[in-house]
Amino acid sequence: MIEYRNLRIAILGAGSVGAQVAALLLEHGEELAGRVGAGLEVVGIAVRDLDAPRTAELPRELFTTDARSLILGADIVIEVMGGIEPAREYIELALTSGADVITANKALLATHGPELFAIAEQVGAQLYYEAAVGGAIPIIRPLRDSLAGDRVRRILGIVNGTTNYILDRMDRQGDSLESALAVATELGYAEADPTADIEGYDAAQKASILASLAFHTIVPVDEVHREGITGITHEQVRSAQRSGYVIKLLAVCERLTDPETGVDGVSARVHPALVPASHPLAAVHGANNAVFVEAEAAGDLMFYGAGAGGVQTASAVLGDLVSAARRHVVGGPGVAESTQADLPILPISSVVTRYQITLSVYDRPGVLAQIATLFSEHGVSVEAVQQSVPAPVSGGPGDEPGGATLVIGTHRATEAALADTVAALADSPVVERVESVLRVEGL
Ligand code: NDP
Ligand code: HSE
Repeated sequence: MIEYRNLRIAILGAGSVGAQVAALLLEHGEELAGRVGAGLEVVGIAVRDLDAPRTAELPRELFTTDARSLILGADIVIEVMGGIEPAREYIELALTSGADVITANKALLATHGPELFAIAEQVGAQLYYEAAVGGAIPIIRPLRDSLAGDRVRRILGIVNGTTNYILDRMDRQGDSLESALAVATELGYAEADPTADIEGYDAAQKASILASLAFHTIVPVDEVHREGITGITHEQVRSAQRSGYVIKLLAVCERLTDPETGVDGVSARVHPALVPASHPLAAVHGANNAVFVEAEAAGDLMFYGAGAGGVQTASAVLGDLVSAARRHVVGGPGVAESTQADLPILPISSVVTRYQITLSVYDRPGVLAQIATLFSEHGVSVEAVQQSVPAPVSGGPGDEPGGATLVIGTHRATEAALADTVAALADSPVVERVESVLRVEGL
């Protein structure tokens, strides 16, 4: 057997993910070396605070605060520190000094991905990022490699573990958003600033990465329509249950034709949505993620598993490490990102989907007819109407004699038509308040 030198591995960060990457690599190093055909030597772990507590026992002598020196002596650099700077600068340094890089940093890839991939291609290095979307779930390689010969039409995914954990706790245990977020943070699922999770930024970054890969088109994160879950109330969760739905934060990336202009393009959006209780996405509990891919030839594919968590994410990082190390052993160029399709990115107003609108109305004769007219005037077709008393929020008209709640489900309509309808409803004298507007996906 040919003897190879050890490959020198630098790890940047020893938090929820980094500590587990280091621990697994130290524990299973020999086994992984057998798969690679070279030794994998952890030469150091860069952190900010040498004395901070770690979630795994790691040799103290490996720790350093001098990330630059560590990078310059490495064959492969694993970036699991998060944030934009200095992560971007360190990755650039690693690539230009000849190292392959593995990152779990979707925030960085969504904002600086194209420039980092260009540097990697220029210097003949490789940038791996399986852990950046879906935690432990293999989704980057399937989109980039396995489906490269197909045409992806649509991706529908739960891609943020923290918000899925929170919505699941609100749905099944009646927890508040705040208390569920505190547990998700304790369990290591949340970002350093959990606003990234609950306001949908993290999911939007992942949608940008998935859409770019799936449609061979750079989809910048600021072109991803984003709504978070902070506006979701217990009443919306209960109302969804009564109607046979579950509320999930979804990332939807699709190829579509703008109904007004006829332009073929792509769209990416992140928002809470009603998913039928019978749909497989409704059964994605806790911090798990699931990604549905609809491809022209392959049909429907579903990828499911742990979407967050230190040790689970470390599995994806180590998969990338084995790939990177094999490339070092065998040689040859890496796989470049393909963005040649360069399709137009369509705004949210071009999207066509179904909606559920909850209204507090005055319970008088003729109200329903007036509301139905408003829908039809704006080209939105009503599929079903449920009426109930009392109204959903205390202090609303349902608490007063004569108040009622209408839950209206629509057929497919454009976002633009729906927005006009909602504006007209809000102005209508028979509507006390528009309580909630949620998109319905997965029907
Ligand atoms: P943590 O906040 O738990 O850990 C960050 C680590 O990076 C800490 O060890 C910190 O050092 C170190 N660090 C931060 N800034 C610097 C710096 N300037 N110089 C040196 N070290 C630094 O983050 P996570 O482990 O949760 O996440 C890491 C990355 O993985 C992020 O990009 C995240 O988005 C991604 N990710 C996380 C998942 C998860 O479930 N947590 C899942 C998938 C991806 P110190 O400890 O000394 O403060
Ligand atoms: N904070 C992220 C989440 C980590 O909750 O999904 C995994 O990317």
